[in-house]
Amino acid sequence: MAGKTQIFGHRGSAGTHPENTMVSFQAASEAGADGIELDIQLTKDRIPVIIHDETIDRTTDGTGWVKDFTYDELKEYDAGSKFHKDFKGETVPSLEEFLDWAADKSLLLNLELKNGIVRYPGLEKMVLQLAGKYQLKDRMIISSFNHYSLKEIRKLDQEIETAVLFMEGLYEPWNYAKTVEAQALHCFLPVAVPELLAGAAEARMPVRPFTVNEEKHIDSLINAGCSAIITDWPEKALRILQDLTHSGQE
Ligand code: G3P
Ligand code: CA
Repeated sequence: MAGKTQIFGHRGSAGTHPENTMVSFQAASEAGADGIELDIQLTKDRIPVIIHDETIDRTTDGTGWVKDFTYDELKEYDAGSKFHKDFKGETVPSLEEFLDWAADKSLLLNLELKNGIVRYPGLEKMVLQLAGKYQLKDRMIISSFNHYSLKEIRKLDQEIETAVLFMEGLYEPWNYAKTVEAQALHCFLPVAVPELLAGAAEARMPVRPFTVNEEKHIDSLINAGCSAIITDWPEKALRILQDLTHSGQE
């Protein structure tokens, strides 16, 4: 087996806590996750915020588009109690709030730019500026389904790691990733087939499939030496990893 498989908490620890909230990030960190994945949208007054959908309907007690709220307006909504009443009072974090929290930790930070449906012109520059302000570029991975955006990141910054997100069974995606100067593959779990894992390893390109929640999938990707997995259940995944390590199976 190659190196140890890293565990990234998806939207923090979305299986156990309200996704993309500070309490969810804290849970992933306390579980011992190697990294955290999160989603970025932009408010009306151009503050990058952490929320998966373009609207606040599914995860908060409000309705409407993120792009139509100012940051102060967005902060009025509850982002915890739809998951469970115990989390009432959680709010949509700003990216800056998250980076300030993450700065003194050793977590890897996977920021997904959610600029496929609403384009949010200038988002790339704003995210890079914040990454620079908190000196976090060396442990940051910027991913997106919008590969034009990844190319834009690369134009603005030659060093920061970028990762192509994709859902389909592409042929030799490591070659495609190089066309947008990306360094990693973040693929939908069903397309993380053995040929992809082997070819990417040969090309020295990390693969971090999402969203790997079932024990059998966690187990098989660890056994296959996959670089990382992105999971809603980081605590469970770390326990499986530890058990496999102790039994000498991985
Ligand atoms: O970044 C991996 C994964 O989160 C991409 O899909 O829809 O969960 O943001 P989604
Ligand atoms: Ca995501």
